[in-house]
Amino acid sequence: MDVSKLMYRDGLMDGERILVTGGGTGLGREMTEAFLKLGATVYICGRRQGKAQDTADELMAQHGGKVVAHGCDIRDADAIKAMVDAIWEEGGALTGLVNNAAGNFISRTEDLSINGFNAISDIVFRGTFYITHEVGTRLIKEGKSASFLSILTTWVWNGGPFTVPSAMSKSAINNMTQSLAAEWGRYGLRFNAIAPGLFPTDGMSARLSPDGRGNNSNDRANPMGRHGEMHELANLAVFLMGPGAEWVNGQTIAIDGAGYQATGGNFYHTLAPLGDEEWAKMRDMIKGTNAK
Ligand code: HXC
Repeated sequence: MDVSKLMYRDGLMDGERILVTGGGTGLGREMTEAFLKLGATVYICGRRQGKAQDTADELMAQHGGKVVAHGCDIRDADAIKAMVDAIWEEGGALTGLVNNAAGNFISRTEDLSINGFNAISDIVFRGTFYITHEVGTRLIKEGKSASFLSILTTWVWNGGPFTVPSAMSKSAINNMTQSLAAEWGRYGLRFNAIAPGLFPTDGMSARLSPDGRGNNSNDRANPMGRHGEMHELANLAVFLMGPGAEWVNGQTIAIDGAGYQATGGNFYHTLAPLGDEEWAKMRDMIKGTNAK
């Protein structure tokens, strides 16, 4: 990311302690970089500890400050508890949690197995709740305030054909955002979400657009004629996680160049015409990337 395009002064996030799930790659890494650059201590976790550690080392070499990497699969509530224990022991309460970790692949829903459904919903639906609950209950006990941010998609408003487990799960997290904003606002805990349009990352392209066509938020279809730039997402994340706008609570904000208004923002128009053969090919391409 071009950190010179961050809108904020250095030191804005001094003293903040933020955990970014899936912070080793993709959008999580970009938000981690912005928080770090602005002074926060950032904890990141991913299923692959080595990948998260590489990111932590690279970002600290570039910007100084502190990024601590944990290996943690958010599908595992015990692993979450152990990680959050370690974070608290190391430096005390978190001031923020970014629910960024996700899983997704395109598939006709009639081709999905129960395992396929669970592979996505266990991460997005259950895992996001597990970690939010673990962090939130500790903060309530200690009387500390904090900001929670979940990375969703515009499909939470209009559905996600061909990505149904992800769309269902993210809609549920949208509801969690609204519900807990009201329920836990009294504890000084606030909950917001970002619904990004297309911000190309390796993981997203491999699983959602394996042959390059599976996303109609592409440059031509988007009203602004382009995809998102990482600093734009990071600036919005800092606004919601940093100090100064604490009364913003319970909101899901799209950042997609009005792609949702123009096209619906989902995969319907590009994927509905595909036949059996094309889906078989697509599935093989995606599965070939799952282990990476
Ligand atoms: C149909 C599939 C499949 C596919 C996997 N499965 N890929 N079914 N089509 N393409 C099925 C398998 O056959 C198996 O069911 C079950 O799912 C579990 O598969 P595993 O590979 O064992 O799962 P696992 O190793 O847990 O991998 C999880 C994953 C993988 C979600 C499937 O993609 C992953 O690790 N993703 C993490 C990163 C990621 O997805 N990033 C992109 C996020 S983008 P059976 O029945 O055979 O046992 C995003 C928002 C995008 O979230 C918004 C864009 C605008």
